[in-house]
Amino acid sequence: MSYYLVTGGAGFIGSHLAEELIRRGSRVRVVDNLSTGKLANLAHLPSVEFIEGDLADLEVARRAVKGVDYVLHQAAIPSVPRSVSDPITSNRANVDATLNVLVAARDEGVRRVVYAGSSSAYGNAPALPKHEEMPAAPLSPYALQKLVGEQYMAMFTRLYGLETVTTRYFNVFGPRQDPSSPYSGVISLFISALVDGRRPTIYGDGEQTRDFTYVANVVDGVLRACHTPGIGGEMFNVATGGRISLNRLLQVLGDLVGRRAEAIYEDERPGDVRDSQADIEKAQRLTGYVPTVSFEEGLARTLAWYRDQQKIGNAAR
Ligand code: UD1
Repeated sequence: MSYYLVTGGAGFIGSHLAEELIRRGSRVRVVDNLSTGKLANLAHLPSVEFIEGDLADLEVARRAVKGVDYVLHQAAIPSVPRSVSDPITSNRANVDATLNVLVAARDEGVRRVVYAGSSSAYGNAPALPKHEEMPAAPLSPYALQKLVGEQYMAMFTRLYGLETVTTRYFNVFGPRQDPSSPYSGVISLFISALVDGRRPTIYGDGEQTRDFTYVANVVDGVLRACHTPGIGGEMFNVATGGRISLNRLLQVLGDLVGRRAEAIYEDERPGDVRDSQADIEKAQRLTGYVPTVSFEEGLARTLAWYRDQQKIGNAAR
């Protein structure tokens, strides 16, 4: 039975990975400092082994990696604006911790490390869709930190023969994405505003576009990245391959919720990317990845989850 470490496994994407691995009969350990993750995200997975600790401490990284076959490195402070307001804390979580995970994985002899890269690395490269050969152009500390992490991955493959693969995520959404911080993903913020009857905020003119990706597709992409032979040192996009503006997203969500949503428009965020859309040909060619849950289906599932959460919240009140 393969043994996996999911770093950041109490977070949104990490907990979905842990869930799928358990479903497949694997053994799973999670390490998380609970800075943005929550134990409640793992409450339905009692067989997951949990270590609370900060990977910016090398000893925590060594303890977490001990004895595992694969590392799925998801732990991060995943926010552009948070990195703009506090680059040092972000760097510690996104770069220092990543280097520690790599050193620990190398010394432990793990079979592969799969790293959560980010579409933010492309910045405002003018051509769409964005493909892996395009030069990186980070616009925020977050984007730069994620890029440094993926370059460390490739370097560890070259220097030490540690197998690593980077999956560049594009605006992932789905159940368990926490809408409670102003730094949360936009879909979680829009849905929670609509469901609670508040007006959502749009930063800028709302015509910026994103390739929103339902979390089940990401789980599939990461596990393919983990198990496809012969792709050590590679990096590829994991996304849906479409794009939609925020104004349109809000209309679609308003239709789904059955409530007209007037946004409050505020200034564009510094470090924000204008348009983002992935070319997913490389993921398909290397690993056979194709998105299985469409954007629309993903939105419907996500909305259903937030509604359930609201009912649970109301019932508890
Ligand atoms: C960026 C990365 C993404 C990464 C994520 C981590 C890009 C293209 N994407 O996402 O790969 O995983 O950071 O957080 O760089 N917005 C509003 N109202 C809100 C909240 C956000 O209008 O209440 C806007 C933002 O200004 C932005 C868009 O919605 O234009 C998406 O924001 P967000 O969900 O935070 O993700 P990105 O910053 O695009």
